[in-house]
Amino acid sequence: MTDTSQALAQAHFVRAAQRFEHSPISQQLAALPDKVFSLLTLTADQHWLDFGAGTGAISAPLAAQVKRVTALDTSAAMLEQLTAKNIANISALEHDIFCGLNQTYDGVISSMALHHVADIPRLLKCMQQCLKENGQLALIDLYSEDGSFHGDNQGKGVLHFGFDPQELLEEAAKAGFKNLSYREIFSIAHKNGRTYPMFLLLAQA
Ligand SMILES: C[S@@+](CC[C@H](N)C(=O)[O-])C[C@H]1O[C@@H](n2cnc3c(N)ncnc32)[C@H](O)[C@@H]1O
Repeated sequence: MTDTSQALAQAHFVRAAQRFEHSPISQQLAALPDKVFSLLTLTADQHWLDFGAGTGAISAPLAAQVKRVTALDTSAAMLEQLTAKNIANISALEHDIFCGLNQTYDGVISSMALHHVADIPRLLKCMQQCLKENGQLALIDLYSEDGSFHGDNQGKGVLHFGFDPQELLEEAAKAGFKNLSYREIFSIAHKNGRTYPMFLLLAQA
């Protein structure tokens, strides 16, 4: 991410944080965790990393099923909303994943954050390195779109107009992941009248 797009994304999430969970899109996405979690192996002794956790749409329900969730995000404003929920087993971590992580996790999950990250191969490598052996990876984002989903892509720090999940899968394999698969997991009805499918990519370290 360039300094400019990073600054634009930061400013966008400062503006968006308070109302984020009330947006029609976030409200639809509240149904996502159940769909995703039914495809993961979640146990009460696990520690998960939620990359780009935001206000906790994934972290909060995940924390009810595992021992601990580290909610990593670069936006203090988004994490503030999550911290205000006072969920004891979630640790908010304002951090740049490219600066490294000093522990390993049973699983890494990320929803709607990848499209803000310029260097996806490097991100996948970081995710692979911070997982325990056979640790689970679950990545959720939009299928390739024409840029109409976010509208002001530059102002919102959007660096990818969704992804071709097959290409992402191939990048994840290069990063060392195995048992890779993907499927359509959800479809967002947008106020612009269009629907935008989302994929879930699953893999193991
Ligand atoms: C669209 S929100 C999604 C939040 C949450 N995962 C959800 O599903 O509601 C994207 C989040 O990714 C975060 N983000 C963007 N770039 C990031 C980066 N390089 N590292 C960590 N978080 C990032 C943003 O600050 C924002 O909170």
